[in-house]
Order: sequence, then structure tokens, then C-alpha cells
Amino acid sequence: MTGSFSQSAPQICEDFMAILATGCAGFIGSNFVRSWLANDGETIINLDKLTYAGNTNNLADLRGDNRYHFVQGDIADEAMVSELLGKHQPRAIINFAAESHVDRSIGGPGEFIQTNIIGTFRLLEAARSYWSTLDTARQTAFRFLHVSTDEVYGSLEPNDPPFHEGSVYAPNSPYSASKAASDHLVRAWYHTYGLPVLTTNCSNNYGPFHFPEKLIPLVILNALDGKALPIYGDGQQVRDWLYVEDHCRGIAAALEGGTPGEVYNIGGRNEMSNLDVVHAICSILDEKRPRSDGRSYTQQITFVTDRPGHDRRYAIDARKIERELGWRPQESFATGIRKTIQWYLDNPQWVADVRSGAYRDWIEHNYTERTDHA
Ligand code: NAD
Ligand code: DAU
Repeated sequence: MTGSFSQSAPQICEDFMAILATGCAGFIGSNFVRSWLANDGETIINLDKLTYAGNTNNLADLRGDNRYHFVQGDIADEAMVSELLGKHQPRAIINFAAESHVDRSIGGPGEFIQTNIIGTFRLLEAARSYWSTLDTARQTAFRFLHVSTDEVYGSLEPNDPPFHEGSVYAPNSPYSASKAASDHLVRAWYHTYGLPVLTTNCSNNYGPFHFPEKLIPLVILNALDGKALPIYGDGQQVRDWLYVEDHCRGIAAALEGGTPGEVYNIGGRNEMSNLDVVHAICSILDEKRPRSDGRSYTQQITFVTDRPGHDRRYAIDARKIERELGWRPQESFATGIRKTIQWYLDNPQWVADVRSGAYRDWIEHNYTERTDHA
């Protein structure tokens, strides 16, 4: 198995065959639900608060599919989550829900503490209380999978080895600190209460439905609009990019084959500087949608004030999930970025919808305060 969806869960009985997944109106969760159902996965209930990042259009194609249910709500609402668990009797919970943007966490950390820490705590408590009502076979089969990030490990020096599951936690932003705290809670609920948890820590994702506040979709759309392509600092920060569907396959592999209490790092072995990523996007756009003046989109690159506390390098050692669960990425950056750019070119209505009022306010807030460093 090289990363195909593996949905060979122990079938306890037909009334223990649903998944509760949180935050699936967002980027990764919506890709996960689509892949899960395309691979004949069982019923999935999406619990999402619909913050600015949640968009029901991301799963509009599933309207009418009776294996997909959407519930608007907050993971921090323990009573509501308990009711949902009692009603649907899921065999697993996958927690994608989070505040996810580092720049927003710097300007306003409160929501990050609330959702990523308190929310995860409440969700764990609802899960624990539901799990304690299950019979032994169901308790053994149940899983709580927490989707986390490589940012919890902090920043690497150029010659450091990539992060592995035993790397020391050293988060540097309010976002990564809140995710680190949530990982610790998940770990503690396993060790203290025996809740069968799994944690995945993944590197930077890209692909369809990525909200255009993040580097890759922002650059694609700004380029097409003739706007500046803002590079923070010197653009030499390194990220390990993974196509979102490969991440989703990794989550499915961990859910079905992972050992409770274990952590699995997921990454693309694809380290690139931000400047190289932006050049790669410009070069594909030059070919697919040339500028009317015949010049390259690289003309639009603008160096702007750096992100405070900006982590210099992330890289993931994914050997554990490769070795133990047979997962491998199926896309290279070269293939994944082409698919991604094509998706944005093919979906102007989705783009127009997400770039409505609230999005414009954020762009103005984040970029007008950054002076250009030509
Ligand atoms: P996203 O911001 O696109 O989506 C987050 C979703 O969570 C949205 O639909 C939002 O409405 C929902 N949400 C927020 N607060 C909620 C709450 N209190 N209750 C219920 N729903 C709530 O994020 P994403 O990029 O899809 O990331 C998903 C998860 O994966 C996050 O936990 C993130 O930390 C993690 N992760 C992301 C990346 C990446 O590169 N994007 C990489 C590794 C890990
Ligand atoms: O590493 C995993 C993480 O990747 C996830 O946990 C986060 O949820 C996700 O948002 C992402 O965090 P980053 O901060 O790495 O992603 P972002 O797309 O915001 O930025 C990528 C790099 O590009 C980073 O070094 C900052 C830089 N950047 C970003 C923006 C938005 C720019 O240079 N200019 C920009 O305008």
C-alpha cells in the first residue's frame, strides 16, 4: 500500500460505523471528506463552527450524498458534542478544527487559545465520556485522531536533521504554542484515561480549496490580479511542502493502522525556500496564463517586512509512517503545484466567493502595515 485510502476498520457492527470529523469545512478537512467518501468510506459527520475559514461550498458537490452530514457548532460546546456522539455513535473522531493561520495568531492570539486549547480539551472530555459508555469491543476499536502540525517542534538550523516523533517541542508562535498545548492534552488523555488517541504532525500542505491568506494560494491569485507577491523578509525560509491529498491518505492510514498513543509525522521530503516556491508558481503561470505585456509574473515579487518570530526552517522525517503504515506521498511538488494552479484557474467562482468582505479586511490589515523592502 503506497498511501491509498485504507478503510479496513474492525467492523464491530453496523451501528458503530460512522466518523465524526471536526473542521471539515476548511481546507484539509474538506479534502479529507471528499477523498474518504470517494474511497467508499462510511458515513462522516462534519462538525464545523464556520469561522472565516470554514466554507460549506468546499463540499457543495456532496449535497445529496446521504453518507455526509453537516452540523454547525463549536468543538468547545461539550454538551452539544456529547449529544452528537450519543446520536451517531461514531467509531472515531478526527479533529481538524483549529485556528490555523500564524499571522492571525500574532495579531490576535485569543481565538487560538480558545479553539486550539480549550476546544480540544472540551472535545476530549466529550469523547472520554462517550467512550466510557461503550462496551469493551467498541472501546478497543474507538480512535480519537488529532491532526497537528510540524510547527510544534520550532525552527531548524540549515544542517539540522528533520523533525522526528521524538523531537523536543519548541513552539515559537501563538499558533504553534496552542497546537503544542493541544498535542499535550491529547497525549495526557491517553496516558491518564486510556482514551485510544493518535496524533499526526504534518508539514505545510497545499492544493485545492486552500484559503488564500496562505502563501501558495495568495501568490497564485495575486499574480493573476496583477498585484504584489509579498515575500516576508529575505524569502529564504524553508518549508516542507506536501500535497493535501497525500496528507489525507496519511491520516486515513494512521486512523486504520496506527497504534493508540503513538505519534506519526507526515511530510513530503520536499524542502523549498519561499522564494523558490514563488518562482515555481510564476513560471507555471507564465506558461499557462501569460501576462498581457509578455513579461514574467516574477516582476510582481515584492519583499516586505518579516513575520515576527518567523521560523526559519521546517522539515519532517516521515520514516515511521512509511515503515509502519506503508504510507508514501504520491505527488511531487512539480506535479502537485501544477494541479493546484490549474484548480485555481478552473474555479473563479469559488475564488470570488471566498474573497468577499471579511477576506478583503484581512488582506488590508496584514499587508498595508508591512513596508516594502525593494
Ligand atoms: P483551516 O483554517 O482551513 O480550517 C479550519 C476549520 O476549522 C474551518 O472550517 C473552521 O470553520 C473550523 N473551526 C475553527 N474553529 C472551530 C471550532 N471552535 N469548532 C469547530 N470548527 C472550528 O485549516 P486547515 O489548513 O484545513 O488545517 C486543519 C488542521 O490541520 C488544523 O488543525 C491545522 O493545525 C492542521 N495542519 C494544517 C496544515 C496546513 O498546512 N494547512 C499543516 C499541518 C497541520
Ligand atoms: O507547517 C505547517 C503549517 O503550515 C500549518 O500548521 C499552518 O496551519 C499553515 O498555515 C502553515 O503555516 P506557515 O506559516 O508555514 O504557512 P503560510 O502559508 O502562512 O506561510 C508559508 C511561508 O511563507 C512562511 O515562511 C511565511 C511566508 N509568507 C507567507 C505569506 C502569507 C510570505 O513570505 N508571504 C506571505 O504573504
